[in-house]
Amino acid sequence: MHSLYPYPCDMKPIPLILDCDPGHDDALAMILAAHNPSLQLLGITTVSGNGGIAKVTLNARRVATLAGINVPIAEGAGKAILGAIEEAHDIHGESALDGAELPQPKIELSTLHAVDLIAKLLAEHPEPVTLVATGPLTNIALFLKMYPQLKAQISEIVFMGGSASRGNRTPYAEFNIWMDPEAADVVLRSGLPLTMCGLDVTHQALVTKPIFAQLEEMQSELSKTIIGLLKFFAKTYDEVFEMPDPPLHDPVAIALLIDRSVVKSRFVNVQVELSGPLTRGATVVDIYNRLGEEANCNVALDLDFNKFWTLMLDAIRAAATTK
Ligand code: RIB
Ligand code: CA
Repeated sequence: MHSLYPYPCDMKPIPLILDCDPGHDDALAMILAAHNPSLQLLGITTVSGNGGIAKVTLNARRVATLAGINVPIAEGAGKAILGAIEEAHDIHGESALDGAELPQPKIELSTLHAVDLIAKLLAEHPEPVTLVATGPLTNIALFLKMYPQLKAQISEIVFMGGSASRGNRTPYAEFNIWMDPEAADVVLRSGLPLTMCGLDVTHQALVTKPIFAQLEEMQSELSKTIIGLLKFFAKTYDEVFEMPDPPLHDPVAIALLIDRSVVKSRFVNVQVELSGPLTRGATVVDIYNRLGEEANCNVALDLDFNKFWTLMLDAIRAAATTK
């Protein structure tokens, strides 16, 4: 099936680095980032979140092997800035990527720490690079603190995290931000162009039965593996959140780079609660500027479902043809 998407063929691909915690949705974000002609994936870095750092890093290398993604991969922070760590076994399973047999990794791990790989890639690239974060923001915050001289090499930070409404790890905090609120605070105060893909928009990126049917039609080894992973993800999401169709959060942060019309956003003030006993990690998204603070972040609120899934399914087809 040929692509239905009018890829902008005359534009230079957008260079990006993906910082992630694979994680089922992170795995699909890796595939979209690596297999869309509008993007140039420079490297992948890992951060503890859905699983401990060893698990998510092994998962990143196995997904890269599975999906023909041949870029540097570097391991990052194993703990949040203030030291907390929790694994989301209830959603992603013991391995942090349960549901299908994944190949042994053929992609070697970089000898650099994630923060140093980000610095190396930014310093070497001839133009500013987009950082996409789909896990806790620890590596990104550490990078901003350790390499302030490279800040000008960042064109934008796009992160999956937060919510303008309710949370998922606590009633008001979304998992990625909850895991390291101090890191999120560093990013939100950085003054850099920011785009937030919170639960408001990612809960629209549902893996529905018709989407599963399109995956079934593909009949590739990759699509069969992805079906196994997503069926596991669907089961846990239904058990924990009573959502029969699981939300594929992380690829939304990638898709909007390819085509900004995939989401509808508002430029507003976003802050993170650091001390509330019941609300620590909550993103306070001031949609109506009630606090009178300066806007600092594009917040994606609505998703074009068909555009999103056309991009995601195209990338899976493209990945299936690479060896
Ligand atoms: O709250 C959802 C986010 O937390 C996603 O990025 C998921 O992969 C987990 O990291
Ligand atoms: Ca993630």
